[in-house]
Amino acid sequence: MPSLFAHYVADLLGDKKAEIIELGCGNGRDAVFFAKEGHWVDAIDQCYNEICFLMKQYQHLDNIDFRCDDFTDMVDDEPYDVVYSRFTLHSISKEQQDRTLDWAYRNLKKDGLLCIEVRGQKNEIYKVGEAVENEKDAYILDDHYRRFLNFDDLCDYLKKLGFTLDFAAEAKDFAPFNGQNETYIRVIARK
Ligand SMILES: C[S@@+](CC[C@H](N)C(=O)[O-])C[C@H]1O[C@@H](n2cnc3c(N)ncnc32)[C@H](O)[C@@H]1O
Repeated sequence: MPSLFAHYVADLLGDKKAEIIELGCGNGRDAVFFAKEGHWVDAIDQCYNEICFLMKQYQHLDNIDFRCDDFTDMVDDEPYDVVYSRFTLHSISKEQQDRTLDWAYRNLKKDGLLCIEVRGQKNEIYKVGEAVENEKDAYILDDHYRRFLNFDDLCDYLKKLGFTLDFAAEAKDFAPFNGQNETYIRVIARK
């Protein structure tokens, strides 16, 4: 099932057929949803096996390209209407995050949208697990690295890059899952 965030972004786009890049597409559910809505989609993930599976599974869709790549280290591309990142910025270091956000700004068309959903410091598992040495706000829980973003710092960084924030909140109800309703950051930033 596509995420609530994918539905939210699709609703923002309305009838417009957009060029979208998803950073960290995982099992492809949101990328495939956008493609089925008629958008042109580049879906990036570092997991080779997953990308191979998705390429085969969705070879009948001609408006989606899956690519195995590190989204923190991409070259500049033809500009996109949407850069979409759901639950990925908390899997990378602050330095990689800054590089990714800088890349997003450079690689969006004017009025293009950077759409982010991510764990922040109001998230219920912030500070749970083992703190990562020499890294601020990062913890390992159940073998999983997560770095919890500071909402105000993220908003300030985006504004300094030149984005206008159409929507920014850290709240519940964005991504209820399995009977749990945790607190997440959601940002829609316009170039
Ligand atoms: C928690 S999953 C989220 C998947 C999807 N966005 C969703 O919401 O269902 C995070 C994904 O980001 C990918 N990922 C993390 N860091 C990455 C990087 N530097 N480059 C590419 N993919 C990355 C992981 O392989 C994983 O598939």
